[in-house]
Amino acid sequence: MSKKGTLLAAHLDQFRTIVGADHVYVDKETLDHYAHDETENLHFLPEVVIKPRTAQEISAILTICNADLIPVTPRGAGTGLSGGALAHLGGVLLSTERMNSILSIDERNLQVTTEPGVITEVLQQAVKEKKLFYPPDPSSRGSCFIGGNIAENSGGPKAVKYGVVKDYVLNLELVLPTGEIIWTGSNVLKNVTGYNLTQLVVGSEGTLGIVTKIVLKLIPLPTQDLLMLVPFRKLEEAGEAVSAIFRAGFTPSALELMEIDALKIVSEMVGSAAVPITDDTAAHLIIEVDGNNIEVLMGEMESIGTLLSQFDIGEIYFAEDASQKEQLWKLRRRAAEAAKLVGYTIEEDTVVPRAELPALIKGVKAMGKQYDFDVICYGHAGDGNLHIRIRKEGVPNSYGHDAMQAIITELFKLVHSLGGTISAEHGIGLIQKSFMPIVFEETSLRLMRDIKKSFDPNGILNADKIF
Ligand code: LAC
Ligand code: ZN
Repeated sequence: MSKKGTLLAAHLDQFRTIVGADHVYVDKETLDHYAHDETENLHFLPEVVIKPRTAQEISAILTICNADLIPVTPRGAGTGLSGGALAHLGGVLLSTERMNSILSIDERNLQVTTEPGVITEVLQQAVKEKKLFYPPDPSSRGSCFIGGNIAENSGGPKAVKYGVVKDYVLNLELVLPTGEIIWTGSNVLKNVTGYNLTQLVVGSEGTLGIVTKIVLKLIPLPTQDLLMLVPFRKLEEAGEAVSAIFRAGFTPSALELMEIDALKIVSEMVGSAAVPITDDTAAHLIIEVDGNNIEVLMGEMESIGTLLSQFDIGEIYFAEDASQKEQLWKLRRRAAEAAKLVGYTIEEDTVVPRAELPALIKGVKAMGKQYDFDVICYGHAGDGNLHIRIRKEGVPNSYGHDAMQAIITELFKLVHSLGGTISAEHGIGLIQKSFMPIVFEETSLRLMRDIKKSFDPNGILNADKIF
């Protein structure tokens, strides 16, 4: 961002005229509340929080900010893990929380049109009632917004079979930083009509525009699923088993890895003994299959079990009913929260080609020993997407901490050398941007900056994020 304008009392008056005085906040308590997200322990105060209701209101706000060079940070539910929603330059924080209507569910075409402030799980439930399925299910689905999921191109456990957010986004209404309102594409399943603006916006972390309407593709809801938990005595072997499952011809609807220490801390946090923690277990694989024919699924689970018996595994645990499945999923979903609670800093979001997972696990564990920090792993092993948490006594944030930055640099170089990259589903946001040169040549970064400039010539929207 080149120049930053000053937010004046006159601007606040204009914002109040646009959205109503009740939806413009400058009190300390509100500003404090919007000063952080789920990324480490960071705190950046915005100067004003605005909660618009419509695209037209957002357009009017952005037109003013664009003219007077006032930084604007868009925000969904604030569950992000890379600092994308942090107002690190002050200015306006623009929350989409009042834009929370599901506008229509088109059962003829299997599509839903929604506003960005709808909680992801609410949307999933609404389409489920019509026997339709929107698969992307980030761990925070009970509190995150669908708009934030678009910004980060979120994934979650089901991505391994069903893909991530980008695979479901057909069309977006977008307010550009200049105040213009556009639709990015069409509500169709195939489209090579010009550049794909829709997919450019997905995962752009609120830097190109503010999404105000979203058209998503849906699929028929599978009626059955089975879930099992497989304990491994060696962590790396759990990693090896992951690619063996796919090579044998299976596509689970979830294939997650949880190292035992991660399971320990989350079991303690939620007070659950659903999974016994034994000394001889290093990690678990959580394996789910889904479909419509229970006999077929049972056969698949049995075959996967037989395949895995070639590894050093303990007794396989099958979830008997919906409540046992939910208990297991709760342990997996709340791992990030539990890790943060016991002092682990940034949740790294590394991703490598699936068969390189054992090499990544081995490498990161060796680094932990070498530099004397704790490291735990969990994540979407089926996608090669491993969340790596690191902890060093007395270090609350990796952001701004030199030794941590050096360790993360080494980790990301390893990831890159294995053919992987540094974020799969959390985004780069604020706290990972310094690592972008590890995975991109300057020419690629220049292209990205040029795209940013063409959407946001004055650099007002979520400026200084990503690169
Ligand atoms: C998870 C989220 C935090 O996998 O990425 O739990
Ligand atoms: Zn994840």
